[in-house]
Amino acid sequence: MTSPETAHAPAIQLDGCTKEFVTPQGGSYFAVKGIDLTVMPGKFVSIVGPTGCGKSTVLNMAAGLMAPSEGEALSFGAPVVGVNRRASYMFQQDALLPWKTVLDNVSLGLIMRGVGKKEAAAEARRWLAKVGLSNFEDRYPHQLSGGMRKRTSIAQAWIVNPDILLMDEPFSALDVQTRQIMENELLDIWQESGKAVIFITHDLDEAIALSDEVVLLSAGPASQVVARYDITLPRPRNLLEIRDDPQFVELHREIWGRLRDEVAKTYAAKAA
Ligand SMILES: Nc1ncnc2c1ncn2[C@@H]1O[C@H](COP(=O)(O)OP(=O)(O)O)[C@@H](O)[C@H]1O
Ligand SMILES: [Mg+2]
Repeated sequence: MTSPETAHAPAIQLDGCTKEFVTPQGGSYFAVKGIDLTVMPGKFVSIVGPTGCGKSTVLNMAAGLMAPSEGEALSFGAPVVGVNRRASYMFQQDALLPWKTVLDNVSLGLIMRGVGKKEAAAEARRWLAKVGLSNFEDRYPHQLSGGMRKRTSIAQAWIVNPDILLMDEPFSALDVQTRQIMENELLDIWQESGKAVIFITHDLDEAIALSDEVVLLSAGPASQVVARYDITLPRPRNLLEIRDDPQFVELHREIWGRLRDEVAKTYAAKAA
């Protein structure tokens, strides 16, 4: 899919991206200002920051769901115009269709791309096996646990073989144990896939455990990138044990020291 001239281009590059919203009163609100972000193919980058600081806004600009008011969003060297076709999106709330079975939900993305029903179903079964749902293909979404719904969503996002996965707090509604299992499974699938991931979370533990790089946004309005941290913990990682690793503990201490200030600013602004 990658042409020679864009082989070394970032999967996502935001250059000085600012997003201004018009408020219902006709005023203006700067959600984020001058965001620079580069995500190379095969890299796992997390964005953390306090609630409302503009994490989803940044992801939406990468996804092409929102155009920057200033600056430019590029994907593999080309401006993002309209929905970014190189990317799949995974939200906190899954987007499963309640009237379709697990198999049909997972097949849908391929069918919409013109793949035949039989071929799409075969590929969907391959993905359901990968995420441990082979015995549940005939179930409807309401018959699934939270973890199973997430597995279905992961299969949905990956089956179309995107170059980029954009994940907006995908596991935040899960209980802690299910969440760690899902994080582990995500890394297993991502490992060696060559795909770029931008992962939004407000959970610093999750960001460090998963990522190659953690990008910290300041409290809004006009949120900016305040720090970037390379996470050099060796891979493959076992997320059920990584939180006890001294290197993890040290990184967490360092990044939390900075994030805490931004969280405090957000609370102070709300209390005012
Ligand atoms: N469509 C919109 N119109 C107006 N304001 C918005 C819109 N989307 C987001 N905002 C505001 O921009 C800020 C950043 O929002 P968001 O990116 O959702 O933050 P986060 O994902 O970090 O919680 C918030 O103050 C939010 O209220
Ligand atoms: Mg958000």
